[in-house]
Amino acid sequence: MSAGSARLLPGGPVAERVFAEVAEGVAGLRAAGVVPALATVLVGDDDASAGYIRIKSRQAAELGFASPHVHLPASATQADLHRVLRDLNDDAGVHAVLVQHPVPGHLDYDRALQVLDPDSDVDGMHPVNMGRLALGLPGPVPCTPAGIEALLAFHGVPVAGREVVVLGRGATLGRPLAMLLAQKRPTANAAVTVVHTGVADWPRYTRRAEILVAAAGVPGIVRPEHVRPGAVVVGGGVRYEGRRLLPDVDESCARVAGAITPRVGGVGPTTVAMLFRNALRAAQRAAGRGSAEVDDEGAVVGDGGAGGGGGGDRG
Ligand SMILES: NC(=O)c1ccc[n+]([C@@H]2O[C@H](COP(=O)([O-])OP(=O)(O)OC[C@H]3O[C@@H](n4cnc5c(N)ncnc54)[C@H](OP(=O)(O)O)[C@@H]3O)[C@@H](O)[C@H]2O)c1
Repeated sequence: MSAGSARLLPGGPVAERVFAEVAEGVAGLRAAGVVPALATVLVGDDDASAGYIRIKSRQAAELGFASPHVHLPASATQADLHRVLRDLNDDAGVHAVLVQHPVPGHLDYDRALQVLDPDSDVDGMHPVNMGRLALGLPGPVPCTPAGIEALLAFHGVPVAGREVVVLGRGATLGRPLAMLLAQKRPTANAAVTVVHTGVADWPRYTRRAEILVAAAGVPGIVRPEHVRPGAVVVGGGVRYEGRRLLPDVDESCARVAGAITPRVGGVGPTTVAMLFRNALRAAQRAAGRGSAEVDDEGAVVGDGGAGGGGGGDRG
C-alpha cells in the first residue's frame, strides 16, 4: 500500500488458522478410519489451470486429504465431463469435487456443475447450494464470500448492525456475499446494500458504507472519493492481465480507509482456505460426523447446523 494510514487486513493468517482447523478435522476422520478425499477435475491443457490444480493438490496432501485427479483432454465433450462427474458422485471414497474453472470454450461449466452432487461441490456454486444459502440451510458456502466473512471476523471487524455496501452482484462474489452477510448470525447480521451498473450514482451508497466490498472485477474502480473516511475496505474483485493482478480497489484508498485488505494476500488466501473447509465438511457429512459441532465464533457448523463457521455458516 502507498503512504496510507489504514490498518491492513491480511488474509494469510486467517487461512493459516482455517488450515489448522481443517488439518485437525482431517486427522479426526482418519483416526476414525475415514480418508477424506477431494477429487480435482481438469479439462484441457491450460498452463495456469494446471498450475492451480497442482497447488491445490499439494495443499490437499499437506492437510491429509487424498486427492484423486481426473484429467480430460481439451477435446472432451460435455457428455465426457458429465460421465466423469457422475462416476465421482457414485464413488463412495470421494467426498468433495473441484472442477477447475474455466473449462474449454466448447464446454458449459454451469451445466456440468448441475451434474455434480451438491453435497460434493466445494465451490458452493451449485444451484442447490445457492438455494440453500438463500434459505439459510446447511451446505457448502461459496468460497470467496465465506472467506471475506472469516477475514472480517478474524481481524475483529464488527459486521452486525453495520452498513455494508457491496459493489457488484456477480454469482461468484457479490450476490452470495450479500446473502451471507445479511444472515442472522454474530459475524454477519449487517444492513447490506448491493450496487451495480444499474445504479448510476453508486458512489452515493459506497460513501456511506462502514464496510465496502469491491466485487466488480474492474481495475481501480474504487477510489478514495468513493470511500467513507475510516471505513473498512475489502478488495474482492480482481482482473488478471497476463500474470499481473489488477485489483478493483485503487491503493490510494488506504489514505482514507480505516482498514483495508492488502493488494496481494487479502481475500485470495481465504478463498482457498474455505475450499478446504468445504471439503472437510463434505467428508464429515458423508461420514456422519458433521452434526452439532460449534466453532470458535459460537456458530453451529457442519450438517444439521450450517456450512462454514465464522465465514460461511448459515443459520
Ligand atoms: N479474490 C478472489 O479470490 C476472487 C475469487 C472469485 C472471484 N473474484 C473476483 O471477484 C470479481 C467478481 O466476480 P463475479 O463473478 O461475482 O462478478 P461478475 O459476474 O463479473 O460481475 C461483476 C459485477 O460488477 C458489476 N460492475 C461491473 N462494472 C461496474 C461498474 N462500472 N459500475 C458498477 N458496477 C459494475 C456488474 O454489474 P452488472 O450486474 O450490472 O453487470 C456485476 O454485478 C471478479 O473480479 C473476480 O475475479 C475474486
